Amino acid sequence: MEFEKIEDFQSKIKRVLVSEEEIKAAVKKAGEMINSLYDGRPILLVSILKGAFIFLADLCREVTVPCEIGFMVAKSYYEGTQSSGIVKITMDLQQDISKYHVVIVEDIVDTGRTLKDVMKLLASRNPLSLRVIALLDKPDRRVVELEVDYSLFTIPNHFVIGYGLDCGEYYRTLPYIAEFSEE
Ligand code: IMP
Ligand code: MG
Repeated sequence: MEFEKIEDFQSKIKRVLVSEEEIKAAVKKAGEMINSLYDGRPILLVSILKGAFIFLADLCREVTVPCEIGFMVAKSYYEGTQSSGIVKITMDLQQDISKYHVVIVEDIVDTGRTLKDVMKLLASRNPLSLRVIALLDKPDRRVVELEVDYSLFTIPNHFVIGYGLDCGEYYRTLPYIAEFSEE
């Protein structure tokens, strides 16, 4: 993506879908839910890069149970704009997760393919427990059956940017979630 002037960059931000204040309040609530659910037991928060890095950073600071952080990189392969359904793990966790209560922290559940594959992989390693928390859920787009334990916001079928989510690697640093203008 190339921008000749700052206005070109800004004009792609169509409208704010979730404000900074709404995100803050929901992340705080999600942290409280984790604290009461695990009730002092240690957990491993696993973030799927890159989209979930800001959500993870804010969420982990609301967590008061002993908490470790792990990162994975998962890539979905596309044929044109269609997801091929092939998900490849290009960076794996360092931890042996069999000793952990694992919480996957994901940015958005769209078709559900990425999360389904990551869950299958992590479940095969026999963690003490496995849950998923997603910042956003786009249920209209789902093509695989999937149980998300907790999502902060359900949104309509728009391509969104901000708060970690990108379009062509830009816009991750917006403090809110916005609809991307396809024009
Ligand atoms: P999946 O289709 O559920 O496998 O989604 C895979 C990944 O696509 C997500 O983890 C996001 O990184 C990305 N993605 C899906 N929808 C959006 C969107 O609206 N904006 C930005 N990234 C998205
Ligand atoms: Mg992305």
